[in-house]
Amino acid sequence: MRVVLVGPPGAGKGTQAEFIAGHFAIPKISTGDIFRANVSGGTELGREAKKYMDAGDLVPDEVTIAMVHDRLGQDDAASGFLLDGFPRTVRQAGELDSILEELGRSLDVVLDLEVDSDEVVRRLSGRRTCKQCGQVWHLEYDPPQQDGICGRCGGELYQRDDDSAATVRHRLDVYAAQTAPLIAFYSGREQLVSIDALGAVEDVTERAISALAPFDAR
Ligand code: AP5
Ligand code: MG
Ligand code: ZN
Repeated sequence: MRVVLVGPPGAGKGTQAEFIAGHFAIPKISTGDIFRANVSGGTELGREAKKYMDAGDLVPDEVTIAMVHDRLGQDDAASGFLLDGFPRTVRQAGELDSILEELGRSLDVVLDLEVDSDEVVRRLSGRRTCKQCGQVWHLEYDPPQQDGICGRCGGELYQRDDDSAATVRHRLDVYAAQTAPLIAFYSGREQLVSIDALGAVEDVTERAISALAPFDAR
């Protein structure tokens, strides 16, 4: 199954991607995670991406599309994938079509996670991420047992640089202007399925899996 996850910053894309990809046994490909791994690894790509990410702006298409092209061509993505954070503009959606066409494949479904902006702000302001294993926590909704320490691997937790209140506001504006048009784009192609992403993580996962199950061709 080839799936794209869309939704505003903080909708729970990363959180749900983990469970959905596990359930359907497909690799999770998160452009945000790949950029952050490059930032912490000090690569050229990371240096280029960081200035845009810190400002809450989109990384330029040339950089992003080449990276996704490369990733989707890898062996583990041959029989399916879950994209988290790509495409993020209608232009990127067109590029995804071209990449898949080149690989002789096509997209099955786009899952849209719906949340309101008050909840987005609550989710992002309390988010903490593990430096070591990448596990995502929330100070209120899913607090680690020990302050500042990952409950899964013992690693140190940090707050993402783009989760400051001002940058979150800007990311929401960028989402509304550049990414939200994807909803109409995919809905027009009858590839969109929207679910309510409010409520407990497990409940949202259940909704996501039921919504996607009909598209699982295996
Ligand atoms: P990216 O990393 O994709 O960030 P984003 O889209 O802003 O989304 P987030 O990762 O912030 O939120 P999420 O939906 O994954 O929520 P999460 O599961 O963590 O992109 C970052 C930057 O990279 C961009 O700004 C851009 O610069 C660049 N970039 C990436 N892709 C690009 C592209 N294609 N083109 C150009 N640039 C690109 O959940 C949030 C919090 O809520 C967590 O603490 C979690 O524990 C909690 N939570 C989750 N679900 C629930 C629930 N049901 N109830 C309560 N709490 C919950
Ligand atoms: Mg994420
Ligand atoms: Zn950890």
